[in-house]
Amino acid sequence: MLNGEYGWIYAKALKLIVKVGEALGAEKLVKIRHAHVSGVSFSNIGYPGLEFIRDFYVEGAEARIYTTVNPTCIDVLMQSTLISREYADKQLEINRFLEGMDFKPTYTCIPYLYRRPFTGEHLAWGESSAVIVSNSIFGARTNREGGPIALAAALTGYTYFAGLHLDENRVVNVVIAPSIRDGAYGALGLWIGYNIKEIPMIRGLKTSLYEYKLLLAAAAASGDHALIVLDGITPRDSYTGCDSCERISVTQRDLEDIKGSPPSEGDEVLGYIGCPHLDPTEFVDLYNLIVRRASKGFKRGRKLLLTIPPLVAKMYFEEINILRKIGVDVAAGTCPIVSKLTSAFDYIVTDSGKAAFYMSRRHGIKTYVSSTTDVLNEVFRD
Ligand code: F3S
Repeated sequence: MLNGEYGWIYAKALKLIVKVGEALGAEKLVKIRHAHVSGVSFSNIGYPGLEFIRDFYVEGAEARIYTTVNPTCIDVLMQSTLISREYADKQLEINRFLEGMDFKPTYTCIPYLYRRPFTGEHLAWGESSAVIVSNSIFGARTNREGGPIALAAALTGYTYFAGLHLDENRVVNVVIAPSIRDGAYGALGLWIGYNIKEIPMIRGLKTSLYEYKLLLAAAAASGDHALIVLDGITPRDSYTGCDSCERISVTQRDLEDIKGSPPSEGDEVLGYIGCPHLDPTEFVDLYNLIVRRASKGFKRGRKLLLTIPPLVAKMYFEEINILRKIGVDVAAGTCPIVSKLTSAFDYIVTDSGKAAFYMSRRHGIKTYVSSTTDVLNEVFRD
């Protein structure tokens, strides 16, 4: 393949992987089963990214393995009033190139909804939140790949054998013992990203997979974590533990500054849930919660946005219509971080530490990170 026997476009893709592998000291390549390509939103990658993807497409490149794709900057339902359609033409062009290369039109950051990784299998995934879930919950092996490397891995079926593909780099160095009361798992994840540089093990935390997802995505955003061992959840043979490691306690008080303070009356507030995207069960649970909670309507100046994979939109068409009637904006295949919003807000109130992290940095919005229930309390009247 490197010598061009499969065509120069595959040689180019493989050279990219070899180059990165050499820089990281990899001695060989490893076959992968699933690539997940991020960096596909026109809002983020602009014309240079569009041209990079188009170059592969026009040369007839095709995925050699199962390949999923991250969210883009458009709501695939085209019904969201909060997600801008400004770049729709350019985005649809990119989507045509991606699908033309036989990438699955998943447009979600939870590719494990489509194909659950096996413990120990090698992957090449972009999207830091998906990477950390795959390593920490499924015990699979992937580094945090950039968009171009994940694309090259999709076309060749290989990645470089370094980083988290190796046992020696999956070793716990510190133990975290959190005691939090308010369900702000996104804030706990941000704290870990800011304060812990090594691979941590979290002990003594018993919560739902949704909340672990929030925690992991936030830690991957504020730090460069790609593996956090969750005691009792991370498959035991996918990491090396540590009995004599330093033990760090995290209390509710440690999280207060990171959470931020709730908005005041008069602020224009976006409530946001769905970063990472909601899976079918999470969507249904939230739907029931909203329907119970929203009887008195929205508080003044408050809106609520949910983001989901296109697949969930197809499954719950009627529920989405009911949410729209209540005034909840539901967008599929996108999120406010990889797209543009149609309105300006003073505040974002969210259960997602990752969304708060990027919204404050990219859009200068004040943030309040709390539990899912708190988000609903902030936007709906009592
Ligand atoms: Fe997914 Fe967007 Fe959050 S891609 S993880 S919903 S920033």
